[in-house]
Amino acid sequence: LRQIFLTRHGESTDNVLGRIGGDAPLSPRGKKFAKALARFIKQQRLAFALEMVESKKREDWRAHKANKSPMPSTPQEEVRAKVRAASNSQFTVWTSMLKRSTETGAAFDPDEYDVKHIRFLNEINSGCCEGLTYEDIQKAYPEEFHARQANKLYYRYPGMGGESYIDVIHRLQSMIIELERMTQSCLIITHRVIMRILLGYLLDWTQTEMPHMMVPIHTVYEIRPKPYGTELKKWQYIE
Ligand code: F6P
Repeated sequence: LRQIFLTRHGESTDNVLGRIGGDAPLSPRGKKFAKALARFIKQQRLAFALEMVESKKREDWRAHKANKSPMPSTPQEEVRAKVRAASNSQFTVWTSMLKRSTETGAAFDPDEYDVKHIRFLNEINSGCCEGLTYEDIQKAYPEEFHARQANKLYYRYPGMGGESYIDVIHRLQSMIIELERMTQSCLIITHRVIMRILLGYLLDWTQTEMPHMMVPIHTVYEIRPKPYGTELKKWQYIE
């Protein structure tokens, strides 16, 4: 059993202005979120380790009752050591290559976490609309604005490197395979479109609903893949 945490980066200065795309740094609120996130993940890893040790104890008791095996006993010191070892186990933090995401990841101590920056996790490229607000787009490119509203999944932004949701789904395929393959717990710090696609994949959302799902900033999702289905928990950061 492992924990997969997903979150958007902390608030950026462009988020404050309502601008899409770009490579803006964190705002002061975003910086606070990054620190709170690192504290939160540490707590959750510890709680998880404790949960695992407790569940193992319950299993031993069940086995003892069923087989009349000797009574299991785990001295307190041993329990503490097990929890410590489990909560210090390898934990990967993936961020995109964009400032707002790497700056959020910088709150994680590299001696404690294996932090990696991955281009595949970058936000959708909005081509000629990078750096604009939705209002700007509506004014400057009214037809494009409506075309996107009519079919957000397939709409590809015009201009250099412009992408559609479908394009991003394809570029994330290798990330999804890697996420399925890895056995250790991890945190992914990324962007709105990437979150919609990864959560959509893990939680079985349809492709049609994916581009419209609410995925606010300063919200952490925890997914635990289980043999039958997936467990989801969601936390919101309150300042
Ligand atoms: O506004 C933040 C942001 O991540 C933009 O960079 C991106 O273009 C947008 O959200 C994606 O959301 P939507 O697909 O709903 O426009």
